Amino acid sequence: MPAATQVIKTQVGIVGGGPAGLMLSHLLSRAGIASIVIEKRDHETIRHTHRAGILEAGSVKMLTESGVDGRVLTEGHRHDGIDLRFNGTSHRLDFQDLVGESVWLYAQNEVFVDLAAARKRDGGDVRFSVTDTEVLDLETDVPKMRFTDPAGQRFEVQADFIVGADGSQGMCKRAIPAEKRSDHFIAYPFAWFGILVEAPPSAPELIYANSEHGFALISQRNDHVQRMYFQCDPGEDAAAWSDEAIWAELQRRVDGPDGFTLKRGPIFEKMVLPFRSYVCEPLRHGNMFLAGDAGHTVPPTGAKGLNLALADVRVLFEALGQFYATGSPELLDGYSDTALERVWKAQNFSFWMTTMLHSREDQTSFERKRILGELAGVASSRYGQQYLAEAYTGWPHS
Ligand code: DHB
Repeated sequence: MPAATQVIKTQVGIVGGGPAGLMLSHLLSRAGIASIVIEKRDHETIRHTHRAGILEAGSVKMLTESGVDGRVLTEGHRHDGIDLRFNGTSHRLDFQDLVGESVWLYAQNEVFVDLAAARKRDGGDVRFSVTDTEVLDLETDVPKMRFTDPAGQRFEVQADFIVGADGSQGMCKRAIPAEKRSDHFIAYPFAWFGILVEAPPSAPELIYANSEHGFALISQRNDHVQRMYFQCDPGEDAAAWSDEAIWAELQRRVDGPDGFTLKRGPIFEKMVLPFRSYVCEPLRHGNMFLAGDAGHTVPPTGAKGLNLALADVRVLFEALGQFYATGSPELLDGYSDTALERVWKAQNFSFWMTTMLHSREDQTSFERKRILGELAGVASSRYGQQYLAEAYTGWPHS
């Protein structure tokens, strides 16, 4: 006979132990607010899930000022600009000069490792490898989440609030009845082929390259490991590509009269990343709030995903903090609108960077030339550069 369901009470039940869920739990604990985080994947799987690697200045501050760990400053790298490359020529955008800000190159999976370590250090309740997760009674004063732990024990968490931070494939947003939410969605006719390679950096900063053969992004991880991407077909089979074919494809997208040549090395990871733009509106149902990819997804160009998730968490944390300190639901009631304002700015930026840098198979000569005009318009104008620099480094947090 299965053991009886064990009931646990807490203040905030968080579905999803990625950076958004862990950061929220971390901030809440510092404010004396109890939470439980449940996550279906195990720690090692998340640690090895490679995502983007650019943190806005505001995201870095959230990590350092909340006492997560200083690793982002010691092992991450500050980047003061990027190269926009088109027609085979690089145009540097100097973020410090343009907007007085920088970004940090620090991989998302390292952010996860730091946050998980901080929760462990501070005695946080984070349960990995749970199964059969459900959220229920969301419109009541005691919303709940249920799950089974790896030993087979069934639990029910009774909370004041549930937070859905369970990523783009998560179940929380699907728990909102279809007639109570709007799904804003677009698909793109391409994807990214991403590699990790053992080699020194090819350039001091990131290169976002538009070429007639499609987009390429030359990114980095550290002095010995680099991250690169090139635009590909969504149905591409990563395993079918030889290293030789990958290098040839990347190189022809950055070729130019300056003779820029990528530094090659063994490729130890190949993957195809899907592209889509999605927003669920509102980011709330009853006493459940959505944060991060659980409520919205951006295409990777510009690396806004994790940064937006942390921005949601900041707004939600302040709202929960106000509620527990004063009993006022005012900020909680404004959470969805406040968070979505930044989300839509980032949706526009990610869409804009994507369409300006990628090419489509059915592209007319007019469209190709128009895009080059757009890139020239940005690169040759301080105002154009400033818009890109401000969005890339992250709009100020209120
Ligand atoms: C990386 C990914 C991005 O989408 C981006 O815009 C910049 C960097 C990265 O993985 O390094």
